[in-house]
Amino acid sequence: MEQDKLLTLVFTFLLLCLTVIDTASDAANKGVYKVRVYSSGVPCIIVQADIYLYLTYQTSDSEKDVVVHVPTSSTADTAVSTCDTYIATAGMSVPAQLLRINLYHMAGWTIDLGFTEDKRFKTEGKEFTLFQVNVTANFSSDPSSFPNAKYPTQSYNLHIDPNNLSDLSGSIYADIGNSYYCPSEQKYAINDDVAYIKFKLTTIQAYMKSASFGPKQVCPSDENTTDLVPIIVGSALAGLIVLTLVVYLIYRTFLPEEVLNLVNPDSHFGSDSGNELSKDDILERF
Ligand SMILES: *[C@@H]1O[C@H](CO)[C@@H](O)[C@H](O)[C@H]1NC(C)=O
Ligand SMILES: *[C@@H]1O[C@H](CO)[C@@H](O)[C@H](O)[C@H]1NC(C)=O
Ligand SMILES: *[C@@H]1O[C@H](CO)[C@@H](O)[C@H](O)[C@H]1NC(C)=O
Repeated sequence: MEQDKLLTLVFTFLLLCLTVIDTASDAANKGVYKVRVYSSGVPCIIVQADIYLYLTYQTSDSEKDVVVHVPTSSTADTAVSTCDTYIATAGMSVPAQLLRINLYHMAGWTIDLGFTEDKRFKTEGKEFTLFQVNVTANFSSDPSSFPNAKYPTQSYNLHIDPNNLSDLSGSIYADIGNSYYCPSEQKYAINDDVAYIKFKLTTIQAYMKSASFGPKQVCPSDENTTDLVPIIVGSALAGLIVLTLVVYLIYRTFLPEEVLNLVNPDSHFGSDSGNELSKDDILERF
């Protein structure tokens, strides 16, 4: 039994280690971008995600597709990012919060993420949504990775139409005070056929009032998987306990009775009688 207990402990420990390692590697695999209220330092936007850009750029005679992984050491541009602004777009002036990400060691590469709680974007005044994504790519920054670029820089802007929400705006939103949570990969069009953005390991919250994420609102594609994890772990542990018990009981049935009584002398005969029973007496009684 002692050995089985030990086995259960070791197994549980390994499971815990795996969970910790998994969480730690996730943390290293994504960027963290914060926009803070200038006066108080409290964040209004936190974006945690591993981001990829899928861009098509013009070359002198044709075009070329590239995939750019946003370095996880990229940072929020504190000069441009803001908790309180208006973004002029599609003939509207939209009250917004803006995060600009400067790609690490890639001069002139930026991603602008605009959030709003404006009712024109179907927020019903109680949700925030990511309504605007603009990417600026400086292909001249690295001619070996982006050969033959016709223009030194190209911009890719999400087309905005409140009457026909973009796939992205219709997907990345949450109630004010909550965070949007989506570990799985999600790829969205910025400009159909020429620019896409992919988010992974994502937690996003805008219009924040405190320093840490609110309750998670899980995206549809992760709802089932996140529910499954505790169930799987729980079942595995329960199974292991049952297995341990069964193995122990089988093991016990193979032990001669003398050994059983040696191991656990009190189990069958109360010591309250005070009588020292001889081995023969014991055998007689069964
Ligand atoms: C993104 O691009 C659109 C179209 O050029 C522009 O109207 C809008 O102001 C830009 N948004 C930001 C946050 O710069
Ligand atoms: C684009 O990259 C080139 C080369 O690194 C740099 O000289 C230029 O200033 C960059 N453009 C912008 C807009 O940052
Ligand atoms: C809505 O937008 C999508 C893609 O952005 C487009 O394919 C579709 O035609 C638009 N629908 C309407 C009714 O404008």
